[in-house]
Amino acid sequence: MCGIVGYTGKRQAYPIVIDGLKKLEYRGYDSAGIALQQDDQLTLYKKAGKVKDLEHFIGERSTDGLTAIGHTRWATHGEPSDHNAHPHLSQSGQLAMIHNGIIENYAQLKSELEKEGYRFKSETDSEVLLNFIDDIRLKNQCGLEEAIRIALKRVTGAYVILLIDESQPQTIFAARKGSPLVIGIGADEHFLGSDASPMLAYTKEVVYINDYELAIVRPDELVLKNLGNERITPYVQKLDLELAAIEKGGYDHFMLKEIFEQPLTIADSFRGRLDAAEARIVLSGIDAIEEKLLNARRIIIVACGTSWHAGLVAEYVIEELCRINVEVEYASEFRYRNPVISSDDVIVAISQSGETADTLVALERAKEQGATIFGVVNVVGSSISRIAHAGCYTHAGPEIGVASTKAYTAQLTVLMLIALKLAKAKGTITPERFKELCQELDAIPNKVQQVLKDQVERIKAIAEKYKDARSMLYLGRGYNFPTALEGALKLKEISYIHAEGYPAAEMKHGPIALVDEDLPVVFVASRDTYHEKIVSNMQEIKARKGKVLAVVTEGDEITPNIADEVIWVPQTDELIAPLLTVVPLQLLSYYIGVYRGLDVDRPRNLAKSVTVE
Ligand code: G6P
Repeated sequence: MCGIVGYTGKRQAYPIVIDGLKKLEYRGYDSAGIALQQDDQLTLYKKAGKVKDLEHFIGERSTDGLTAIGHTRWATHGEPSDHNAHPHLSQSGQLAMIHNGIIENYAQLKSELEKEGYRFKSETDSEVLLNFIDDIRLKNQCGLEEAIRIALKRVTGAYVILLIDESQPQTIFAARKGSPLVIGIGADEHFLGSDASPMLAYTKEVVYINDYELAIVRPDELVLKNLGNERITPYVQKLDLELAAIEKGGYDHFMLKEIFEQPLTIADSFRGRLDAAEARIVLSGIDAIEEKLLNARRIIIVACGTSWHAGLVAEYVIEELCRINVEVEYASEFRYRNPVISSDDVIVAISQSGETADTLVALERAKEQGATIFGVVNVVGSSISRIAHAGCYTHAGPEIGVASTKAYTAQLTVLMLIALKLAKAKGTITPERFKELCQELDAIPNKVQQVLKDQVERIKAIAEKYKDARSMLYLGRGYNFPTALEGALKLKEISYIHAEGYPAAEMKHGPIALVDEDLPVVFVASRDTYHEKIVSNMQEIKARKGKVLAVVTEGDEITPNIADEVIWVPQTDELIAPLLTVVPLQLLSYYIGVYRGLDVDRPRNLAKSVTVE
């Protein structure tokens, strides 16, 4: 969702900012633009469509300049169009601004400005904010820095803004509340980005800007202040990321690369944490709040999208192993209803990006009410990781494909480690069972590798056969019910085929009405406690001429006689199975998307990091 890039230094800014925008394409967007400081004037180029459309539009026009800001826009206020694209130019023509976020009181500010004679070229809340800032600057005859400070005190909503002023060469003003902003530090140059990927090729030293901070960025200086105009010492951190991690490495798509990385990323998630031979789990991230977790009245898991599905798996596993009451909440609902929260509750936030606006605000609310916040987050240094009292990183590395794959299995791995560690500390698991599950977890990377090696051709063939389905149903029971939800979500995201995930038994209460010879039904049917029951559900589908596609455990002799298509996964413990059974479903969605000729890495309308509510 909206990507932000900026550069000021000794090099030509244009290629750096354009390349940075391409690095942020994965976030999802529908238009792009750039503003350059050229001598004492501002030059803006913007276009609906992709960054390459913008480049094409700019063509041979002048791109000289040592300072620039660039933006990829994911439309909220106003359709994707050239005039709604960022940057915006203030009515005075003196300021250019890009914005990520939503200004909630923009309508009121807009009507105030309109009364004063302002006219707007776009339908965006961003252009309103820019003119609001400019109006304060002109009326108060103050500098831009002062005007931004005054304006932001009146603004409600979320933002990262970057501004340049035609009269202040080589200076970028930046501020944030609720949306992410990273500043990279080079030698006599600075880089700004929604995340670190645009600056990775140039520097490893970064500063994560906090809410209500204002940065004044020049080639040789980074001044950080709060909205009270007090200076803050920037906290410089070293990035532990390589450029190769955000490139495709020979794969056709990031999604495929990330699916194939999973044997490694799962192992990375438990590296140094799980010692299967000694049956030991070390998770220093939870030490600080282990007692709180063990005595928690409830664990409330808060997340969105795929991360919410990881939360559902965790609910099943933690309740089974630790006998602690777990609730799983959509962050967007949790933040707005009036949930009963006490200081005995531990809120576990699961988030790949660590920036999802709904999750972030839900946590802030719960924290205000005294709950302890624990983060299971992938992106190091992200907002959620910083507001949590404690947490464990998932260590999946950068995930670029919009549809989450390796980040999901890394989340499951960490959540299983947490469940096991708590169960042991609480005494709700026998030493034998603990050891057994540690060993099963340890063996998962090899088993995922086996699925990737042996099943891909089979899955490709199934994908080709069913690529024109209008709708698909995904069914699972127990630990595999969340996998069914995740499989359906992946298909929707990547192939635009309508798909629903359901608990297999619940199917009789509605979805069965959809079943006919045109409806493929995917069963997540690895061998577990519920196996016989799910086989009966398959029979019910077959009896109504539905097509059954089944993910089953090697050695299963019954299911293949019922199902139309079978995908095999190795045997594992039912608690650990979600780590394995999801992999064929990721591949199935991927290949269906590819056969339908779609842009699987950047599906329409979706954003990787949903930084507005
Ligand atoms: C978006 C992404 C999903 C992700 C969800 C939650 O919808 O496209 O892949 O699961 O946001 O994001 P988070 O970063 O909080 O896990």
